[in-house]
Amino acid sequence: MATSNRANAAKKTPQTNTSANSRAQAKHSNKTGSKPKDAIAILRADHSLVSGLFAEYEKTRSVSKKKTLVSKICTELSVHAQVEEEIFYPAVKAALRDKELVPEATVEHATLKDLISQVEGIEPDGEMFDAKIKVMAEYVKHHVKEEQNEMFPKAKSTKLDMVDLGERILARKDELKPEMGLPKENPKVSGSMKEGAALTT
Ligand SMILES: [Fe+2]
Ligand SMILES: [Fe+2]
Repeated sequence: MATSNRANAAKKTPQTNTSANSRAQAKHSNKTGSKPKDAIAILRADHSLVSGLFAEYEKTRSVSKKKTLVSKICTELSVHAQVEEEIFYPAVKAALRDKELVPEATVEHATLKDLISQVEGIEPDGEMFDAKIKVMAEYVKHHVKEEQNEMFPKAKSTKLDMVDLGERILARKDELKPEMGLPKENPKVSGSMKEGAALTT
C-alpha cells in the first residue's frame, strides 16, 4: 500500500502544486514565535531521525516493532529523497554549477530506493531481513556523511536562500507525508487533504 501511495505522490510534481505550495508556505511563515528553519537544518533533522530509527531496529527483538520501524524508515527516507531531488539538489546543482556531487547523490538515492523496495511491506523473517536493514543503514550513513561533510558546506558557501528553500521543503513534505501515511511535518497547518487532517488530530 505504501508503495502505491508513493507512486501516486511521485506523479505529482511540485510545479503542478504551486498554489498548494504557496498556501502552505504562507502558513509556515505565519507561525508565531517559531524561528524559520533553513533547508540544511531540516535535512539534518531528517538524517538524525532516520539514524535513530535504525538504532532502534538494531536493539529490538520484536518482529512487530521491526515491521513498524522499517515502514517508518522507508517512508521517511522516501519523502526525504524526494524533497532533496525536487527542491534541494537542483538548487545546489545550479548554485555550484555542480557536475559531480548532485549526480552522485542522485545515483545513491536510486540504490537506496532499490534497497527500500526489497524490505518495504515484507514480514521481518530472520537473518536475511536483518542483513538487508543493516546494509541499508550503512548505505544511508555513507550517503548522509557525504551530504553533511561535502554538499551542505559547499551549498552554505553560495548565495542560496536557505530559509526560502527550507520553506519550500517543508511545504512539499506537508503534501507528501499524508499521501504516504505519515503525519504532516507541521501539524498546525490544516490542509484540505482528508487523510492528512485525520492523522493530525
Ligand atoms: Fe540524499
Ligand atoms: Fe539527505
